[in-house]
Amino acid sequence: MEVVESLFLFLLLSGQVLHTMGVSVGINYGQIANNLPSPAQVAGLLQSLSISKVKLYDADPIVLSAFLNSNVEFILGIGNENVSAMMDPLNAQSWIRQHVQPYILNTRINCITVGNEVLSGNDTVLKSNLLPAMQSVHQALVSLGLDKQINITTAHSLDILANSFPPSAGSFRQDYAQYVRPLLGFLSTIRSPFLINAYPFFAYKASPGSVSLDYVLFRPNSGVTDPNTKLNYDNMLYAMIDSVYAAMQAVGHADVDVSISETGWPSRGDDDEEGATAENAATYNGNLLRRIAMNQGTPMKPLTPVDVYVFALFNENLKPGPTSERNYGLFYPDGTPVYNVGLRGYLPMIISSSELTVTEHSSALLIICSLFYTLSEFSLLRIQGWSYLDHYVCPRQK
Ligand SMILES: *[C@@H]1O[C@H](CO)[C@@H](O)[C@H](O)[C@H]1NC(C)=O
Ligand SMILES: *[C@@H]1O[C@H](CO)[C@@H](O)[C@H](O)[C@H]1NC(C)=O
Ligand SMILES: *[C@@H]1O[C@H](CO)[C@@H](O)[C@H](O)[C@H]1NC(C)=O
Repeated sequence: MEVVESLFLFLLLSGQVLHTMGVSVGINYGQIANNLPSPAQVAGLLQSLSISKVKLYDADPIVLSAFLNSNVEFILGIGNENVSAMMDPLNAQSWIRQHVQPYILNTRINCITVGNEVLSGNDTVLKSNLLPAMQSVHQALVSLGLDKQINITTAHSLDILANSFPPSAGSFRQDYAQYVRPLLGFLSTIRSPFLINAYPFFAYKASPGSVSLDYVLFRPNSGVTDPNTKLNYDNMLYAMIDSVYAAMQAVGHADVDVSISETGWPSRGDDDEEGATAENAATYNGNLLRRIAMNQGTPMKPLTPVDVYVFALFNENLKPGPTSERNYGLFYPDGTPVYNVGLRGYLPMIISSSELTVTEHSSALLIICSLFYTLSEFSLLRIQGWSYLDHYVCPRQK
C-alpha cells in the first residue's frame, strides 16, 4: 500500500502544481440531484481540472465556504422564485449582506444573475418585475460599495429571438420588446453582459433531417454563408451568438457584450431525442473546448473571444423532463467522466490520511487510474505530474 499512499499524498499535495494551462471555460454547477459529492470534493475536482469559472443557480453558503481562498470566480444566482421579493430594497440589501458580503474578501464573485429564462416563461407578473428587481439588487451593491466588482444581469433562453437566421437578420420577438429594450438600456448603463443559454442540440433534435450534424458539432463542414454579410459560419453556436448581437444592434444596443451562460449536449436521451449520445456530447463539448482554447471570436466579432459556461458539471438525477435533462453532465456524481472531452481531473477524498482504509486506498487508485486512461489522449493540456502516474502507478493499457 505504500505506493498507493504516496500517490494519494502526491495528488493531494500537488494541486497547486497541476493547475497550469487551464482552458478559460466556465462550468455550470447545478445541484438538482441527491447523489452529488460534497462541495469540498467538487472544489478539488475543479482545481484538478484547472477550471476556475463556476456558475451557480443559487448562492449556496456551503459551496461558497468550500471555495474560500480558491482562485475560482463565481457567478451567483437569484432563483426565479426569489426575484420579485428583490424589488424591495431592504430584501435586496439583506440578500447581498447574507449571500455575498461574508465571502467577498476571500472569494471572487463577479456576477449575479437575477432569474433564469424569465422572459421566455409564462409568468407575466415576474416578467414585469424582472428589471425593477435587477435595479434594486444593483442599488444594494452600490450602497455597499460592491457595484464596481460585481455585474448584475439575467440569463435568457434563445426563444426570446423571433428570427436567428441568417445571423445578420437576428431579431427579438415582438412580444418581448417591451421587456428587452429597457433591460438592454440598463445593462448598457451598468456595463454588464447579456447572457444567453444556447443549445444547438435543441435545433438538431427538432429537425434532425434538415440540420447538419457536422455543423452543430463543430466538425469540418463547408458551413453556411450569411447572404447579407457574406460571413461564413462553420458551426451553429457562433451563428446563434451573432444573431443575438444583430438583434441587439437592431434595437440600438451594439454596446452590450453577449456571453453564453449555458451550452452543452446530453449524453443520453429518450427514443425521440435524436442525437443525444455520449459520442456526440464528447464531440460537441470537446470541440467547443478546443475553440475556447484558441480564444476564437465569432465571425461578426472575431476579436472578442466567446465567453462560455458549459452545462453542466454533473448529471443531475432529479431534473424533471425528458431523459436528456438528467444527462448533460461531463461527470457522473462519483467523479468519473461520462466521456472523454480532454479534461483531466480527479475527485479527491476528503478524509485524513490516518483514517484511510485499504479499500479506500484502492478505490481512490481505481478512480484516479481510470480517469487517467480516459483522459490521457488529450494533448493540449499535458501536465508534468501526470507522467508520474503514467510511468509508475497505472499499468500500461495499450
Ligand atoms: C427564496 O424563495 C424560497 C421559496 O419561496 C424561500 O423559502 C426562501 O426563503 C427565499 N430566499 C430568499 C433569500 O428570499
Ligand atoms: C406555464 O407553462 C407551463 C407549461 O409550459 C405550465 O405547466 C404552467 O402551469 C404555466 N404557468 C402559468 C402560470 O401559466
Ligand atoms: C462585467 O461585464 C463586463 C461586460 O461584459 C465585463 O467587461 C467586465 O469584465 C465584467 N466585470 C466583472 C467584474 O467580471
